Amino acid sequence: MSPPPDATLNPLQPLKFLLPIPIKLPELFSSLMKGFVAICIVASISLLSFSTFSTRQWLDSSDIDLINPSPNPTIQLGNTNNGEDNTNISHILFGISGSAKTWDQRRQYSELWWSHNVTRGFVWLDKEPAGTWPATSLPYRVSANTSQFKYECSYGLRSAIRIARIVKESFELGLDNVRWFVMGDDDTVFFTENLVGVLGKYDHRQMYYVGGVSESVEQDVIHSYTMAYGGGGFAISYPLAAELVRVLDGCIDRYAEFYGSDQKIGGCMSEIGVPVTKELGFHQVDIRGDLYGLLAAHPLAPLVSLHHLDYVQPVFPGLTRIDSLKKLVQAYKADSGRALQHTFCYDLLRNWSVSVSWGYTVQVYPLLVTAKDLETAFQTFVTWRSWSQEPFAFNTRAMSLDPCQRPVIYFLDRVENAESGRTQTSYKRFVAKPGKECGHEDYAPALAVNFVNVSAAEFDPATWTKAPRRQCCEIVNSDKNGVVQVNINGCNRWESVTPP
Ligand SMILES: *[C@@H]1O[C@H](CO)[C@@H](O)[C@H](O)[C@H]1NC(C)=O
Ligand SMILES: *[C@@H]1O[C@H](CO)[C@@H](O)[C@H](O)[C@H]1NC(C)=O
Ligand SMILES: *[C@@H]1O[C@H](CO)[C@@H](O)[C@H](O)[C@H]1NC(C)=O
Ligand SMILES: *[C@@H]1O[C@H](CO)[C@@H](O)[C@H](O)[C@H]1NC(C)=O
Ligand SMILES: *[C@@H]1O[C@H](CO)[C@@H](O)[C@H](O)[C@H]1NC(C)=O
Repeated sequence: MSPPPDATLNPLQPLKFLLPIPIKLPELFSSLMKGFVAICIVASISLLSFSTFSTRQWLDSSDIDLINPSPNPTIQLGNTNNGEDNTNISHILFGISGSAKTWDQRRQYSELWWSHNVTRGFVWLDKEPAGTWPATSLPYRVSANTSQFKYECSYGLRSAIRIARIVKESFELGLDNVRWFVMGDDDTVFFTENLVGVLGKYDHRQMYYVGGVSESVEQDVIHSYTMAYGGGGFAISYPLAAELVRVLDGCIDRYAEFYGSDQKIGGCMSEIGVPVTKELGFHQVDIRGDLYGLLAAHPLAPLVSLHHLDYVQPVFPGLTRIDSLKKLVQAYKADSGRALQHTFCYDLLRNWSVSVSWGYTVQVYPLLVTAKDLETAFQTFVTWRSWSQEPFAFNTRAMSLDPCQRPVIYFLDRVENAESGRTQTSYKRFVAKPGKECGHEDYAPALAVNFVNVSAAEFDPATWTKAPRRQCCEIVNSDKNGVVQVNINGCNRWESVTPP
C-alpha cells in the first residue's frame, strides 16, 4: 500500500546536501529545481499518488496511562464527563492502516509507541501476513473484501476504500468501554499520553471529530481544509462513530472520486454535519526536507503525532530515522507534556536570545531577536506535492546560508529526571561543517558555549485547560565552562520577552 520508502526517498536525494544543517536556500533550491524538472515531472505522478495515499492514513497510539499515574487524581484536563472517570488510554481503540507486504518495514514506527496490554487496537491488513506475526507488533486484523465498492480516482489506490472502512470494522468489533476510535497510518508515531490528554478535554458522549490539516496549502486545496488528515491521525468519539458507521458505505460510493480514505470520511462528516475540531499537535507532516524548523518552533499545544518520517531527514543529525525518534521519545517519556514545548528568553548581560524546543533543540543568537521572529518556524523544508518553497498553513522565515545570520544550534544530548519533579536536559552544540562557522567577533562567545543545560518543572497537563500562554525562561548562569544554564518557569506578572 504505502510506496516502498526507498522509491520515494530517491527524489529527495538532491535535498540532502541542503540539509546537513537545516537551511532554506531559495536560490540554490530554485536552480536545483530547474535541473530536476524532468525528474519532477516523472516523479509527480507517483508523488501525487503518494500524497493522496498519505492523506488517507489512520492512526494508532501507544504508551502508557496518559495522565500522571501519581496518587493525585485531580488533574482535570477540562474534563466534561460529569461524574464519569477521566478518559485514559484504555478508552481508545486504535485502527491502524497497514498492508501485509510493507508491515516489516513500517512496523518500527508503531512499535515505538505501542504498549502491550495497555494500548488497544489493531493494524488492519489487506490479507493474511506471511510467516509468523512479530511478537513486538500490535495485533492485526484482515480487512473485509471491498470489491463491491466504487473507486474512481484515476491517480489513487483502491486501498483507500479498505482503509476508510477501518473505523467501521473497528466499531463493529463491539469492544467494551471504547470512548474514542483513533485512526492512523502504519508510519504514524503517536505520543499517547498527550493524545489522551487532548481527548480528555472533550466530552466523549458528544459527537467529536478531532485532528489536523496538512502543512502544505497545496494539499489542503486539493484534498480539503475541512477534514482531519489520516496520517497525522484523528479521533472520532463513540456516538459520532455510530453515526458514521451507518452512512459510511454509502459515502464510499458517493465520494468514489475522492483520492484518500480520510477524504471519504470527511465527506461523510459533511453529511453528518460535524466539523473537525482542530488540534495543533497532530502532524500530518506533508513536507519534505528537514522537519527541524517545525519541531524547533512547535505551536503551543501538546505533541500528539508525527507522520511521514520516511520522507524527511532524520530528526537528529548523525542518527538514523528510528534512532532519532527513540531519542525524541526518551525526552517525551521524561516529561510528556513538555515535549517540544517552545520557550525563549534574552540574556541581557550579553544581549543574546535563547530559544528552547524542550527535548529537541536550542538556538542561541548573539543578538536580541524579536519574539515574533523567534516564534516563527525556520523553513527547512519544501511543500509535499510540488516541492515548492511555499505556501504553508503557518508562517515561516528563511534560514540564511550565511552562518553569521543564523543562530548557533544545539541538539538534545541527555535527559534526566532530577529531584523534586524537575527535569534536566542538556543540548550539545552541533557543528555542521567545522571551519564554516561565523568568524564575526560577536559570534565568538556564543561559539564557545558547548552545552545549553535546561532545568524545567514537570509539565502540568492541567495547563492545557487554562488560557494558553507560552512559559517563560531565564538564563541563570552566564557562561561557566562553556555552559549556558536556562530555567523554564511559569511567567511572573508583567513578564514578557521584550527588549529593554
Ligand atoms: C481507565 O478508566 C477505567 C474506568 O473508566 C478504569 O477502570 C481503568 O482502570 C483505567 N485504566 C487506566 C490504565 O488508568
Ligand atoms: C499481556 O497480558 C497477557 C495476559 O494477561 C500476558 O500473558 C502477557 O504476557 C502480557 N504481555 C505483556 C507484554 O505484558
Ligand atoms: C472479493 O469478492 C469478489 C466478489 O465477490 C471476489 O471475486 C474476490 O475473489 C474476493 N476477493 C478476495 C480477496 O476474497
Ligand atoms: C545591549 O543592547 C542595548 C540596547 O541596544 C545597549 O544599550 C547595551 O549596551 C547592550 N549591552 C551589551 C552588553 O552589549
Ligand atoms: C550540562 O550538561 C552536560 C551534558 O549533560 C554535563 O556534562 C554538564 O555537567 C552540565 N553542566 C552543568 C553546569 O550542569
